[in-house]
Amino acid sequence: MAHRWKNDLTSEDVTPEKYWLTRRQIITGATSLGLGAIAGSAFASDLELNSWEDITNYNNFYEFGTDKGDPARYAGELVTSPWSIEIGGLVERPGVYDFQDIMSQMTVEERIYRFRCVEAWSMVIPWNGFELADLLNLAGVQDSAEYVAFETLYRPEQMRGQRFPTIEWPYVEGLRLDEAMHPLTLMATGLYDKPMPNQNGAPIRLVVPWKYGFKSIKSITKISLTTEQPPTSWNKNQPREYGFYSNVNPNVDHPRWSQATERKVGQGLFARRKPTLMFNGYEEEVAHLYEGMDLTQYF
Ligand code: MTE
Repeated sequence: MAHRWKNDLTSEDVTPEKYWLTRRQIITGATSLGLGAIAGSAFASDLELNSWEDITNYNNFYEFGTDKGDPARYAGELVTSPWSIEIGGLVERPGVYDFQDIMSQMTVEERIYRFRCVEAWSMVIPWNGFELADLLNLAGVQDSAEYVAFETLYRPEQMRGQRFPTIEWPYVEGLRLDEAMHPLTLMATGLYDKPMPNQNGAPIRLVVPWKYGFKSIKSITKISLTTEQPPTSWNKNQPREYGFYSNVNPNVDHPRWSQATERKVGQGLFARRKPTLMFNGYEEEVAHLYEGMDLTQYF
């Protein structure tokens, strides 16, 4: 049974627990769960799903170009079947895992997550996927592992953006092991109950809802467990602007712009900007991971 994890409610809410809401309950205001404060308020638009059109036509996927429309235009050129992920490093069962084999061993569920890009736009997206922890457990994480490194496919014949040195290819990302094992961290394989569109990272991509969107690396072909903190594409590109952690944090500005507010895609250019929430609204679930860390230093 697919359960729907909806935990991006704010302090304006009546009760500070986790909620599992169905899509229908979110749209109608969740009155049946007693979340009366949501019903009929301005809050309803915060919870409303972005449309398929928004989610699949306004993308960042530099392998296909830097324009927001390029991924929708060109990602169809990428062949995503067959697909495999090489899992290596500090694991018990290293190897090349076929995507279909992985899928046959996973329970795919729907997770509705707030998704916030570093460029200060956000969306609410109904992902389908399974927990990254389940995949890592399939490979068996060794005790000495501390980080997880991810890599996107390198295939310039089909990914036209890779013919130019926009950034260093392939796109790479990383998480600390406890972040990777957190139950909110998803390997997403679809959205709106359809297979993942190419422009969103087919056939399998990461989704880490409390971090800026660039951590959510697309079209993954390699995962490696390490003791060293892995390099990450945007940190390599502009180390002063992008750190390893990249947690959504309204109190730590990007050197060239504020991160305190955001604009939800699809609500028109004149819609009111909303204050950005600490950890993108997932503070209760993830703040403990960063206890005692100076988040202005570890940004
Ligand atoms: N993954 C790869 N391989 N290449 C990219 O350019 N862009 C990132 C992230 N993952 C990117 C990537 C950025 S900046 C964002 S905001 C999200 O993907 C966008 O995901 P979406 O297009 O599905 O909304």
